[in-house]
Amino acid sequence: MDPILQKANDLLAPALVFHTNIVADRAEGIYVRSTDGREYMDFTSGLAVLNVGHTHPDVVKAIAEQAERLIHSGCIFHYPVLTRLAERLRQITPDCIELFFFSNSGAEAVEGAIKLARYATQRQSVIALVGGFHGRTLGAISLTSSSARYRRHYHPLLPSVLHAPYPYCYRCPMGKTR
Ligand SMILES: Cc1ncc(COP(=O)(O)O)c(C=O)c1O
Repeated sequence: MDPILQKANDLLAPALVFHTNIVADRAEGIYVRSTDGREYMDFTSGLAVLNVGHTHPDVVKAIAEQAERLIHSGCIFHYPVLTRLAERLRQITPDCIELFFFSNSGAEAVEGAIKLARYATQRQSVIALVGGFHGRTLGAISLTSSSARYRRHYHPLLPSVLHAPYPYCYRCPMGKTR
C-alpha cells in the first residue's frame, strides 16, 4: 500500500471520507498529478468550488498577497477585502439579497442557512431533498441523505427535518412517466 494511504488509515479520523485512493502531488487547471507520476483529469472541480481550475495564477496570487498581509482577524478587526467582496456580490446578486455571511466551508454555510431560515420565518421545520449531500456537521448531516454512513452513530440528529423526494424524471420516485 502507498505509505501516504497507510498513514492516512493510521492517523486520520474516519469521519473524513475520501472518494479515491489517488495521492495528489500537484494540480493545474483540470489536471491533477499523483505522487506516482500519473496525470488525471479532475471532473469534480473540487466538488464545484474550483470553477476556474486548480492553482489558477490569479487565485494563487490573491491568496499569497493576503497571507503576507493578514491571515486571520477572528472578527476582532475589520479588513478591506471582506467588505470589498460583499460590495462586489451586492452588485451581481438580485436586489432582495442585501446582507452577506462568509464562512469557512459548505457545512458552515448550511448551518448558517438553517439558523437564518428559522430566525426569519419563526418556523422550525426544514425540508431537505432525498439523496442530497449538505455536509458533515451535526445540523448538515441531519439534512444529508446521500449515504447512511454520514449519519450512522450520530443520532439523535436535528429534529423537525423532513425529507421529500427529488423531482427526478428519469427514474421518478413517484412512478410518474410524464
Ligand atoms: C451541495 C453541498 N453542500 C454542502 C457541502 C459541504 O461542504 P464542506 O465539505 O465544505 O463542508 C458540499 C460538499 O461537497 C456540497 O457539495
